[in-house]
Amino acid sequence: MARLHVSNHPLAIHKLTQMRSVQTDHRSFRALERELALLMSYEVTRDLNLTANQVETPLGIAEGGSCRETIGLVPVLRAGLGLVDGVMELLPSVQVWHIGLYRDEETLRPVEYYNKLPTEPTVNVCIVLDPMLATGGSAVATIDILKRWGVRRIKYMGLIAAPEGVERLRTAHPEVPIHVAAVDRELNEMGYIMPGLGDAGDRQFGT
Ligand code: PRP
Ligand code: URA
Repeated sequence: MARLHVSNHPLAIHKLTQMRSVQTDHRSFRALERELALLMSYEVTRDLNLTANQVETPLGIAEGGSCRETIGLVPVLRAGLGLVDGVMELLPSVQVWHIGLYRDEETLRPVEYYNKLPTEPTVNVCIVLDPMLATGGSAVATIDILKRWGVRRIKYMGLIAAPEGVERLRTAHPEVPIHVAAVDRELNEMGYIMPGLGDAGDRQFGT
């Protein structure tokens, strides 16, 4: 089973704490999310493959490495959009493939409304971006789509998970590593993560 990685980096904890605060406005929320995504992408990409190479310095030849993986970011609309820019600061040449899902308020099941993936996969690693792993339904559905597309390596990057969501994602896709900044206490009766940060899409976009 792939690992659950919970960041214990002090800056990640600091920024997530600020994001959670009810006092944080939309603009600051987006800025913090971008910074947190950059910090977390350093951890998420830790095991990417390197091709050994050499480089000429002013004084000689240095052994080095070059990352030639083709990486796709898969933000889950809407809230996943807020994680894209931070990851792209570190990985400017990634492809970005959007998947649109919303949770039906009654059933809490994900409903797909946007998917323009081409027939054949164009990347060999996908990083699913969605700040909230609540029941896990949206993450499982997104990874189902990516597996049907034919992607072999998939990673999940979020900010806050509920234990229920972690369990569901690990059961459905045990080989997918899960990277989050925190695992919170539980889901409430409406399917929100407690204490969480509220509705991530609404907090980003002021809706
Ligand atoms: C939120 C969040 C996830 C989903 C998580 O999206 O961004 O996609 O809920 O819940 P789950 O783990 O129970 O599936 P939401 O449906 O609110 O849509 P939005 O991003 O457009 O606001
Ligand atoms: N989606 C959110 O935006 N927040 C939650 O707590 C759960 C699902």
